Amino acid sequence: MAPSAIVYTSHTGFTARYAGMLARASGIPSYDLASGEQPPAGTSILFLGWLCAGRIRGLAKARRRWSVQAVCAVGMAEYKPENTAKLIQDNNLGEHPFFYLRGGYAPERLRGIYRLMMAPMTRSVLRAPAETQEQRAMQEAFRSGGSWMSEEQLSSVLDWLDQQR
Ligand SMILES: Cc1cc2nc3c(=O)[nH]c(=O)nc-3n(C[C@H](O)[C@H](O)[C@H](O)COP(=O)(O)O)c2cc1C
Repeated sequence: MAPSAIVYTSHTGFTARYAGMLARASGIPSYDLASGEQPPAGTSILFLGWLCAGRIRGLAKARRRWSVQAVCAVGMAEYKPENTAKLIQDNNLGEHPFFYLRGGYAPERLRGIYRLMMAPMTRSVLRAPAETQEQRAMQEAFRSGGSWMSEEQLSSVLDWLDQQR
């Protein structure tokens, strides 16, 4: 069934921005899982959640309420096919279409437990030698934030949405 709503959850704003971009491009309304108006139970949705230690936040809750047709995970890691296979497995995505979107990192916007969880990771990334451009960009993001968001990453999601109409 073609999704009639986009539902997302976002802690520091990157997933919310991707959901907004998809809503504008597709004409399908987007809703924040955490607040406000929500689509009726059972609605076919496209779900977007941010990645937290390999898990797509909000996905379990979304699955209980709606008919999730496809899933986007927003993380800070570089796209790698082998990581995608693991995400599909660890999040029980089965045959659902799945899209990885690279978001960013905003340390100043992290709150509570999420800030604590990232402290050891931050120390180890900043201690490691940064030889490649990618490693330097990652260190910079851990130090003062960074974004890898782009419109282009949405093209396969928009193609999939078009095919459902
Ligand atoms: C506690 C924590 C765990 C994270 N785990 C992952 C991860 O497993 N893989 C990844 O690619 N990014 C991970 N990230 C980075 C976020 O997924 C990334 O910053 C994302 O863009 C956040 O989206 P948001 O702004 O919508 O909250 C983690 C971030 C935090 C704070």
